[in-house]
Amino acid sequence: MKTVITGGAGFIGSHLTEYLLARGDQVTVLDNLSTGSLANLESSRDHPGFTFVEGDILDRQLVREVISGQDRVFHLAAAVGVHLIVDHPLESLRTNIHGTEAVLDACLEAGASLLLASTSEIYGKNASDALTEEADRILGSALKSRWTYAAAKGIDEAFAHAYWREFGLEVAIIRLFNTVGPRQTGRYGMVVPNLVGQALRGQPLTVFGDGLQTRCFSYVTDVVPTLVRIAEEPKAYGQAFNLGGMTEISILDLAKRTVELLDSPSEITLVPYDVAYGEGYEDMRRRVPDNTRSGELVGFKPTTTVDEIILKVAESLSAPVPVT
Ligand SMILES: NC(=O)c1ccc[n+]([C@@H]2O[C@H](COP(=O)([O-])OP(=O)(O)OC[C@H]3O[C@@H](n4cnc5c(N)ncnc54)[C@H](O)[C@@H]3O)[C@@H](O)[C@H]2O)c1
Repeated sequence: MKTVITGGAGFIGSHLTEYLLARGDQVTVLDNLSTGSLANLESSRDHPGFTFVEGDILDRQLVREVISGQDRVFHLAAAVGVHLIVDHPLESLRTNIHGTEAVLDACLEAGASLLLASTSEIYGKNASDALTEEADRILGSALKSRWTYAAAKGIDEAFAHAYWREFGLEVAIIRLFNTVGPRQTGRYGMVVPNLVGQALRGQPLTVFGDGLQTRCFSYVTDVVPTLVRIAEEPKAYGQAFNLGGMTEISILDLAKRTVELLDSPSEITLVPYDVAYGEGYEDMRRRVPDNTRSGELVGFKPTTTVDEIILKVAESLSAPVPVT
């Protein structure tokens, strides 16, 4: 199978690259290395089935060339991370909307199927017990850059769905809920690598707001095989699938557990949202997935516990960084 992974030098994309190469795919990664890195692809780059193309998904001609003659595409390239989105709203909007449109067009032209990575962020402030894929989206003001990621990914989904309905493009959408694991960087505001890194360094763990906001974390290697199963299931085309962890935990409890498990001397400091992200920042109190659809269609069942996630991330942050 000839596969393109946009954003393949990123956190999830690099794990997907390894997984597909091990299955015998020929994998081409297209990535502009903005938040990803070649170090993430260290274990893949000498594989005979691997090709790396450094470039931008906003370069429509390049996207067409890379996807031409390919069987399928996993579209993971995006401007990701709260800091990046809040600090660079225009660049994020362009990448996440126009870049996706370029990928959709190229897939249609090449006759390639597509798996589109979307996000639980699209549900916004909906604090339901268990968000199904049909749940309402409750977003803040369109003028708050914090919501542009959710807005752009929502447009991506609508675009993808229209390409499926009007042109028959074989496209499935996955909505990832806080996926974590080795190679995720804390640089752009990702909470688990940040807290674990602070605990390992003996620095105060910075928890934003009152820390009572909850999330459901899933481990990257629980998620990656499911991406492939969904991509290979024709019944998935035209649909969206939640993929999230099953244990709801507050960020304050996550910080406490991190300190305990890593036997860290660190204290926990609450930082107001305004200080962390600027005035008027809004967050969601709760984000709980209903994974029934992905469970029924492809057997998605995350098994890695929060404790295991903390320990695995700590192990990866303690390991020496490979030289590129
Ligand atoms: N990690 C999560 O918890 C999570 C949650 C929801 C959705 N997602 C989605 O999953 C996908 C992968 O996220 P990730 O966590 O691996 O983030 P990441 O930042 O590690 O990966 C994104 C990759 O895209 C590349 N990229 C960014 N802009 C690009 C451009 N214009 N052209 C080419 N490449 C570009 C980056 O260099 C990076 O390698 C994204 O689409 C993201 O929206 C992730």
